[in-house]
Amino acid sequence: MSVIWLDSIDSTNSEALRRLPELSGGTVLAAREQTAGRGQRGNTWFSAPGENLTFSIVLKDLPLKASEAVRLNYMASVAVASYLESHGVEAAIKWPNDIYVNGKKICGMLIENVVGAHGELKASVVGIGINVNQKVFPQLANATSLSLCTGKTYEPEAELGKFLTLFEGLQVQDAGLFASYSARLFRCGVPAGYHDLLTDREYRGVIKGVEADGRLHIKEEGGGDHYYRFKEVSYIL
Ligand code: BTN
Repeated sequence: MSVIWLDSIDSTNSEALRRLPELSGGTVLAAREQTAGRGQRGNTWFSAPGENLTFSIVLKDLPLKASEAVRLNYMASVAVASYLESHGVEAAIKWPNDIYVNGKKICGMLIENVVGAHGELKASVVGIGINVNQKVFPQLANATSLSLCTGKTYEPEAELGKFLTLFEGLQVQDAGLFASYSARLFRCGVPAGYHDLLTDREYRGVIKGVEADGRLHIKEEGGGDHYYRFKEVSYIL
């Protein structure tokens, strides 16, 4: 993979999408500073300049149909969890692709797919923000970083190299990927609160797992089974 470091950019995902025609698959755009980092659901991703990893991996010629794009979630999530584990930090994957340590968020992802006219997956931009050295998170009670977990300070460029080595070692079609993802599922089997966004109703239930198509399975206490797609449920933390 070839890494291009940018001193400052609005968002590595936005830049990767703008430059998509000219960028080869396997190119990684990494930014020391993002001025308008983008998160899930239109949220902003704030990362203190120079302290963390904010980068986007451009993937082309993927051996996947658009309907199988969920496998990119599995691959990126397992890669981040493995990276943290290589530093002795136990990580959990909060469906669909947040990474949590000790109940706090350490990494978020924004995966943006380019789908062709015939439903084929033409390209994907896998945007990943990992909190590495940042120790203070203004207005974010539920965030942590690698440094807060280990007490050490890291060199972001070297850390990106370590992460990419792990990412490259995974195969998006590997049958074991889904099992690796499921084994690390945050709150699996633990009774907790959920907000069904389809019906605007809160209830207690237990995560039973993730279906092969990527839907989250929650069994409601004293109720039925729910199967959610992205943005149809939120966790009460
Ligand atoms: C989330 O948890 O809401 C997703 C956060 C994704 C942040 C990363 S940082 C690198 C890439 N560029 C962006 O603008 N967003 C992603």
